[in-house]
Amino acid sequence: MDGPPSPAGEIILTPDGSRTALSVRFGEGYGSRHGAAAQARHVFVEGTGTHLHPAPRVLEVGFGLGVNFRATLVEAARRGVPLDYLAFEFDPAPVDVLREVAAGGEGSDHPAWPALLGGWGRQSLLTVRTEAVSLTVQVADVLAAPLPENWATALYLDGFSPTRNPEVWTPAFLARLARSLAPGGTLATYSAAGHVRRALGAAGLPVEKRPGPPGKRECVRATRRTGP
Ligand SMILES: C[S@@+](CC[C@H](N)C(=O)[O-])C[C@H]1O[C@@H](n2cnc3c(N)ncnc32)[C@H](O)[C@@H]1O
Repeated sequence: MDGPPSPAGEIILTPDGSRTALSVRFGEGYGSRHGAAAQARHVFVEGTGTHLHPAPRVLEVGFGLGVNFRATLVEAARRGVPLDYLAFEFDPAPVDVLREVAAGGEGSDHPAWPALLGGWGRQSLLTVRTEAVSLTVQVADVLAAPLPENWATALYLDGFSPTRNPEVWTPAFLARLARSLAPGGTLATYSAAGHVRRALGAAGLPVEKRPGPPGKRECVRATRRTGP
């Protein structure tokens, strides 16, 4: 019997040598065609300051193909710091797509990556533990799932663009995400759209525009204040 149709289509080689894939469901790339690894590093890892954090706790909206996870993993491993990573994904791509997109790429030789592939697609709560890494992928609609409160040092908002997937960009959902940040924690995303910046501001997060990754003029980060 055939399984459900794959949400991922054609695999795309991007200019920095990393790969991404086209989403059949959303009609958009999972990562940037101008450099999937570069986007992961610039927008999410560096945008949230995760590359400097002594013990990052990352919350990700849209685990997708795991490109952001691998970029975060190599950075934490390079510095020898522990990593706690919690991601939501409601439409997991087939494991072969994750494997092919990652082949030979950063982080694919870390023990956490084959451990993830080994358990992928089998359960609704996937956990991987290595000496320094704790990864949990919850196969669920993040809009309906309970989120940790005051927890994340970094929040990667990566659920496709506001035009293609407006549900993860509403003021109400962004306010929920803001509450999942620990004081001083930073949310990063590639959309610098005015309504996104206004919703983040209304959620109590001061927003900062930054230069974008290759192919994009701007991206944003928004950091929860440490004080009252
Ligand atoms: C742009 S891709 C993420 C790419 C990913 N971060 C990576 O590093 O490969 C967006 C992902 O968000 C997922 N997604 C979109 N809306 C969601 C929702 N409401 N709940 C959970 N996952 C969602 C999609 O299925 C897709 O895999």
